[in-house]
Amino acid sequence: SAHVESDLVNILFTEEQIQAKIAEMARKIEADYDGEELLVVGVLKGAVMVMADMARALNRHVEMDWMAVSSYGSGTKSSGVVRILKDLDTDIQGRHVLIVDEIIDTGLTLSWLVSNLASRGPKSVAIATLLRKPDAVAMPVDVKYVGWDIPNEFVVGYGLDHNEKYRNMRDIGTLAPHVYS
Ligand code: PRP
Ligand code: MG
Repeated sequence: SAHVESDLVNILFTEEQIQAKIAEMARKIEADYDGEELLVVGVLKGAVMVMADMARALNRHVEMDWMAVSSYGSGTKSSGVVRILKDLDTDIQGRHVLIVDEIIDTGLTLSWLVSNLASRGPKSVAIATLLRKPDAVAMPVDVKYVGWDIPNEFVVGYGLDHNEKYRNMRDIGTLAPHVYS
C-alpha cells in the first residue's frame, strides 16, 4: 500500500475484519433501537471512518451529528478537563443519542461527554466504540457496544493517528516503537 508498513509492527485488524465487526454491532443497534428515532454522534476527528461505515451499515434511518472535544494540552489529559471545540447542531432533549468513537483509551473523553450530553435531557445516551483499551474497562463509564478489547499498544489507522498521520489507513495496525520513541 501507499502506507509505510515498516512503521507498523503488525496489522491488528484488516479492513475486512473491521467491516464485519461493524456489521455485527449494527445488527445489535438496530435491534435495541427498533421503532425509536436515533441520533448518532461522532467524535471528531478519530471517529470519522467508523461513523461513515457504521451509519451505512445501519439498515434504518439515523440522524448524524458531530462533536469536537479536546483536553487542555497534551500533558493534562489525566486532569479530566475537556472543552468543547464544536458542539452539536441539534437539541437532544427527549432523544436517543448514541455516541460513536473509534477508541476508548483512558475513558476520560467519553465519560465526560456522556455526562455532558446527559445533562441536556436526552431520552438516553449510550456509547459505541470499535476499540477499548484496558484502562477504560476500569472506568465507571458504561459502554453499550464494543468491537474489540485490545492490549495497551499504540494503534493507528482507521481514524487513529500519530501526529495526525495514519488516520486514512484502511487497516488498524500497531505502530513500531521507533516511530514514536
Ligand atoms: C482520541 C480518540 C478518542 C479519545 C480516547 O481522540 O479518538 O476520541 O482519544 O482517549 P481517552 O479515552 O483517553 O479520552 P483525540 O482526543 O486524540 O482526538 P482525535 O479524535 O482528533 O484524534
Ligand atoms: Mg477522538
